[in-house]
Amino acid sequence: MARKIAFINYKGGVGKTSCIVNIAACLAKRGKRVLLVDLDAQSNVSIWLMRVERWNELNSGGRGSVYSIFVPGDKQLRDTVVRDVVEERDGQKILPGLDIIPTTFDLIDLEHEYNPPEMEPVYVRFRNQLQELEPEYDYILFDCPPNVLRASQCGLFCANEVIVPANPDALSLIGFTLLTGKLVQFNERSASFRTAGMGSPAMINGIIFNSIKAATDIEVPKMRMQFRINQFRNQKKISPRTRIFNSMIRDAIVVRRAVTLGLPVLSIGNAVGTEGVVEDYDNVTDELEALEHGQALPAQNAKSVVNA
Ligand SMILES: Nc1ncnc2c1ncn2[C@@H]1O[C@H](COP(=O)(O)OP(=O)(O)OP(=O)(O)O)[C@@H](O)[C@H]1O
Ligand SMILES: [Mg+2]
Repeated sequence: MARKIAFINYKGGVGKTSCIVNIAACLAKRGKRVLLVDLDAQSNVSIWLMRVERWNELNSGGRGSVYSIFVPGDKQLRDTVVRDVVEERDGQKILPGLDIIPTTFDLIDLEHEYNPPEMEPVYVRFRNQLQELEPEYDYILFDCPPNVLRASQCGLFCANEVIVPANPDALSLIGFTLLTGKLVQFNERSASFRTAGMGSPAMINGIIFNSIKAATDIEVPKMRMQFRINQFRNQKKISPRTRIFNSMIRDAIVVRRAVTLGLPVLSIGNAVGTEGVVEDYDNVTDELEALEHGQALPAQNAKSVVNA
C-alpha cells in the first residue's frame, strides 16, 4: 500500500513545496513510484515541475487538474496524472517514476464557489478517486497550502502521516501549534466518512527544519519545538513517534534557482552549492523512509550545515 503523507504547516513560506518536490525527487531516484499531488491553488509544484509553458496550457484550458473532478462531466483524477513529469527542455524525461497531479488557479473555487452534494464533502470525492490510483505508487505526497480549508482537507483525509516543514523561528512554532489543533478538529469532524481500508487518520509524525543559514545555532528553536512536541504527545494530539528530523536542509541559493530551471535540485548537475543541499535532501529522505518503521537515524549532515 502506498505511504500517504501530507506536507503542511499553518505558516506560509517555510519550504513546504521545496521540501516535498526535492524529497519526491530523491524517492524517485531510488526507484520508488511517487505521486505528488498539488493541492495549493498557487500551483507552485505544478509550475515548477511542468515549467510555465506547459502549465499555462493547462491553466488556460481549465482541464486536467485537481479541480476537474469537481466539474460535472470533466476528467477523473486518473486522467489528470502527468507521468514522469521532470523533463529537459527538449522533452527528454530525466526522472522516471515521479508523477504529479497538477493544479491550476481554479482550485481556489473549491473553497467558496463549489457546493458539494449533501453527504459528499469534497474530501470524500477526492478519496474515492485517489483510491483507484493507490496500487500504482509507493508514495503519495500532498503539497498543502498553509491552512486546513477544503483543498488541504483532501490531502489530510487521505494521508496517514503529516510532515511539518518549519523554519527555526517563533512563527513556524505558532504555525505548528495552530495546525495541530485544526488537524485534531478535522479528524473528529471527518471520522464518520472514513472506511476500513484507509488506515488511521492523519497524524503529525515529523518536523523538518528548512533554510538553515550557515553558522546558525538552532539549539534554542529546536528545544522550543521539542517542548511543544512533548506537550502534544502527552495530550495524544500527535503521533507518539513524532520527532524533529536529525537532518535538516541548509539555506542554499540553488533551491530558489531550481524553480526557474524547472528541475528538482538533484537534476541540476554540479552547479556551485548544489552538492551540499542535495545531500541534505537525501539525508532527510533516508529519515522519512526510516520513519515508516519507527527508526531514528543519526544526523549525518548537522555538522556540514553549521559549517557550510
Ligand atoms: N533551503 C532553502 N534555501 C533557500 N531558499 C529556500 C529554501 N527552501 C525554500 N526556499 C525558498 O523560500 C521560498 C518559500 O519556499 P516554498 O515555496 O517552498 O515555501 P512554502 O511553505 O511552500 O510556501 P507557501 O506557504 O507559499 O506554499 C521560495 O522562494 C523558495 O525557493
Ligand atoms: Mg507551497
